[in-house]
Amino acid sequence: MPSLPGRRTVAKYLVGGAAVAIFAACTAPAKPTPSNTAGSGSSPRPVAGVQGTTAAGPAADSAPLDATSDVGAAVAPVSPAEPWAPPGPGPVPSPGSPVHALKTKYSLSDPNSPWVLVNKHLPLHPLSYEPPDLVRPALPPGGGGESALLRTEAAAAAARMFEAAGAAGAAMTLLSSYRSYDTQVGLYGGYAAQTGRADADTKSARAGYSEHQTGLALDIGDASGFCSLNSCFAATPAAVWAAANCHLFGFIVRYQLGHDGVTGFYAEPWHLRYLGVELATAIVAQGFSSYEEFLGVEAAADYL
Ligand code: DAL
Ligand code: ZN
Repeated sequence: MPSLPGRRTVAKYLVGGAAVAIFAACTAPAKPTPSNTAGSGSSPRPVAGVQGTTAAGPAADSAPLDATSDVGAAVAPVSPAEPWAPPGPGPVPSPGSPVHALKTKYSLSDPNSPWVLVNKHLPLHPLSYEPPDLVRPALPPGGGGESALLRTEAAAAAARMFEAAGAAGAAMTLLSSYRSYDTQVGLYGGYAAQTGRADADTKSARAGYSEHQTGLALDIGDASGFCSLNSCFAATPAAVWAAANCHLFGFIVRYQLGHDGVTGFYAEPWHLRYLGVELATAIVAQGFSSYEEFLGVEAAADYL
């Protein structure tokens, strides 16, 4: 994608008492600039050091670039674990993290957990993880996504969200949802071949490091087709509605403007991550713009 910083507008919407900034640009996605990087004036609050992290992944140079990589092949086959397994070792929220107010119901490291935290420091284990309960969401007409899959709970939530968005005049389409390890290998490899790994790493996760592989993430488009997967998507009805309401259905906008220094990715107003209504609502109501900051774990701007 082109990388010119664009003309920007910022609108604020009051959501459950929290102001959510929506970024719109008329050109494509934001490269780091003084106004959109974590080190800027709009930088997020500092995050605490991670505690008890055991999920460190392979070094950046060993991450797969193409389908011939054997990084994933060396990983044991996935055994279908208990859905929503109890908390295990992995990233531990800092003592002051608001997540404690909810009690730590679910693991942050078990790939089957709805709360699994996946970022450039925390790959899936195993890297080739496959969700146990993928289904096709029952989207309203025009929702698209013939071959789209999500985990059962996320699919039901997505269907409800798409219905509500359409009823509100902000019909959305499903552009991408579950992506397997191998699919992500190809996608990331394609970007890397086009523009190099450094640029690819700003917009596409390496295989084993993508939320799409959990079956809990989806990319939405506006029914108009306008600005799909481009930063100007933020100004479309679907994006504006999603930013203001998706938490009511259990989703958060995972990669928000100005938080790439924490999340590792430039703003993606189309990428929604399912966490469940309780957690998603708490994150938004408490004014957090990234899952990492809510949890109080370390920032993951780059691969280790
Ligand atoms: N575009 C997001 C970061 C992914 O590839 O998972
Ligand atoms: Zn996405």
